[in-house]
Amino acid sequence: MDKTEIIARGEAATMKNYGPLQPIVIERGEGVYLYDTDGRRYLDFTAGIASQSLGHAHKGYLEAVTSQMAKISHLPSTYMTEAKMSTAELLVRNSCFDEVFFANTGTESVEGALKLARKWAKETKGPEATETICFTGSFHGRTFGALSVTGKPENADMYAPALSGVHWATLNDIKSVKAQVSPRTACIIIEPIQGESGVHPAQSGFLADLRELCDRENIALIFDEIQTGIGRTGKLFACEHFGVEPDVMTLAKGLGNGFPVGAILAKKEFSRAFTAGAHGSTFGGNPAAMAAATFVLHEVLKPGFMDNISACGARLRTGLETLQASGKAIADVRGMGLMIGVDITKPQKDVLDACRERGLLPWKSGTSTLRLLPPLIVTEAEIDEGLAVLDAVL
Ligand SMILES: Cc1ncc(COP(=O)(O)O)c(C=O)c1O
Repeated sequence: MDKTEIIARGEAATMKNYGPLQPIVIERGEGVYLYDTDGRRYLDFTAGIASQSLGHAHKGYLEAVTSQMAKISHLPSTYMTEAKMSTAELLVRNSCFDEVFFANTGTESVEGALKLARKWAKETKGPEATETICFTGSFHGRTFGALSVTGKPENADMYAPALSGVHWATLNDIKSVKAQVSPRTACIIIEPIQGESGVHPAQSGFLADLRELCDRENIALIFDEIQTGIGRTGKLFACEHFGVEPDVMTLAKGLGNGFPVGAILAKKEFSRAFTAGAHGSTFGGNPAAMAAATFVLHEVLKPGFMDNISACGARLRTGLETLQASGKAIADVRGMGLMIGVDITKPQKDVLDACRERGLLPWKSGTSTLRLLPPLIVTEAEIDEGLAVLDAVL
């Protein structure tokens, strides 16, 4: 079927919440490349918005997921499976956390983390400890709790009233956080690098100050690593760069390599708040999702895997800084590993369209930033290929 027909018929039958659709129809992917229905090849620097950590059609991954699905793909969550046990153990052994809860998406993981923190706070601090501090410019998801702590006021207003007891602070400004703390504060939720509002990293000193504040005031510190986690920044979790351990962490995106998987990781003191019946999910931790996540974790934890992320990320960043120095339409380059934000001085849509025309698919962030999120298996040659397109377009 012709791509115009697919888009028109698909658009007619689906809700219009995503705004203008991409003018191409992707048929298949292989490694870091996507192919459309016209047979055109694109270098994928979006990776399903930081989800396709191992790229497309990874043979070992396909084998792991399909062989699990051929055995058993779904069971009620009260059944433990080898796949779930393996994923949970890998996450616990390679982090500062003690226990894991599995969900299906990022927003659902945030929702669960907020519930966990509130239950913990009510039980340890008192029934009035129900409030949350979050940050302007943040993004945590689209369900009511996650939306209520997301710093996109235009979206929150559409669905007001939001969750009550939410207070706003400014990234990298500890005074703004302290001003919001009270005995009612249950938790603080933060992304180590804000991904949606322009790729803004937190400063190490700021996260250390947050940690100290939470320890002193008995507040649960939640890191949302849904976008930054699973190697994206060159370490398994971005918090490792900052030397700060949160109490609770949310994951999704790259953990499943395209299979919907979400997770809440927590230290025992916090995870024990989820007593029997306190929370749950029909599909969370299903065997197929867990086979996907186990495979991804094994790959990402292989010796040298993270070195490639750091090397390719550094090459991308240096290349972009060189383009900036040579007078291209770049105002700033930020980020870590393979999560890079490029502030551009040309209209964002024009640049995205021109990149696509030349066979590169970056993503957007905020209103004037390009977000570059290649699959973590990208090579230096593919980074150079992407840089050449950006050079021509900018
Ligand atoms: C940091 C962060 N948190 C939460 C979410 C929500 O994840 P999902 O779209 O899987 O619900 C996202 C998605 O972009 C995200 O980047």
